[in-house]
This record gives sequence, C-alpha cells and structure tokens, in this order.
Amino acid sequence: MTTTSDSRDSRQTLASLAREACRSAHAPYSGVHVGAAIRSATGAFYTGTNVENAAYPLGNCAEASAIAAGVQAEGDRFRIAETAVWALDRRGRTVTVSPCGGCRQRIREFAEGDGVQVHFPWHDGSLKSASVDELLPYAFELPDPQAP
Ligand code: THU
Repeated sequence: MTTTSDSRDSRQTLASLAREACRSAHAPYSGVHVGAAIRSATGAFYTGTNVENAAYPLGNCAEASAIAAGVQAEGDRFRIAETAVWALDRRGRTVTVSPCGGCRQRIREFAEGDGVQVHFPWHDGSLKSASVDELLPYAFELPDPQAP
C-alpha cells in the first residue's frame, strides 16, 4: 500500500478516536478498556467500546459495538473502509492489542475488500497496520445463495 499524507492522517485520526473511546468502556472485570473506531465507505466515523458482564461470555468486544453503530446508521450498505482498535489498562496506560479471532471475522464480513487496513498499538510502541487478509486468511464465507 502506498502511504500518502491523507492515509497517514486517516490512520492517526482512527487511532485517536479508538483511544478516546476507551474512556467510555465498561470493563470492571478485566480492567482492559478497549475502543474501536471505523471509517465507513461513506466517510462517516463510528466508535464502540467493550461492554463486560458478570456472566463473562456475555461481554461485547469494542469492534462489535462499533460495527453495530455503523449498521444502525447505514443499514445494509455499511462497509468498513479502515479501522483501528486501542486498549488502555486501569491506570490509562496503552496495552498492546489486536482484534481477537471473532472480531477479525466480524471486521472481514463488513470490510470493503481484503486490503482494508486495521491499525492497533504494538509491543514496540508503534502503531501497527495489517490488512484484513493478513489478519484472517482463508476466512469463512457462506456460499453464494444464488449459485446453482
Ligand atoms: N476485547 C475487545 O474488546 N476486543 C478484542 O478484539 C479483544 C478483546 C475485550 C474483551 C474483554 O472485555 C477485554 O477485551 C479483555 O479480554
């Protein structure tokens, strides 16, 4: 992918929105406050946070919340053009995070294409970027219902 100043700006905007969203997370059990930000194909931005529950498996990931916001606003046309995820610990320190397996499937389902970029804070302090295809190769897809 060619990195232009526009794509650098977009990356930083999404990372900032995801980081900001962490502040609204509900994560009393893990203490990992996750935020996700999406730029949709229409150019709109959506954010979401993780929402934990005392019955642990019922918790929502931040990516799922951001996708829900996009679907609510745009309906079936909603597509992800670019996205970022961020996480802060209880003390507000950045935690290395990348989308979990389930969220990779969620993102891929709504991505405009295999090359859609996903950004996340990495171990070395950098903002890492990977395509949905790198994150989830050989992804599950339903067969085309129109196919003979
Ligand atoms: N979490 C997310 O929100 N997104 C991910 O992709 C990975 C994990 C949340 C779930 C749980 O609330 C917390 O992070 C710790 O696992």
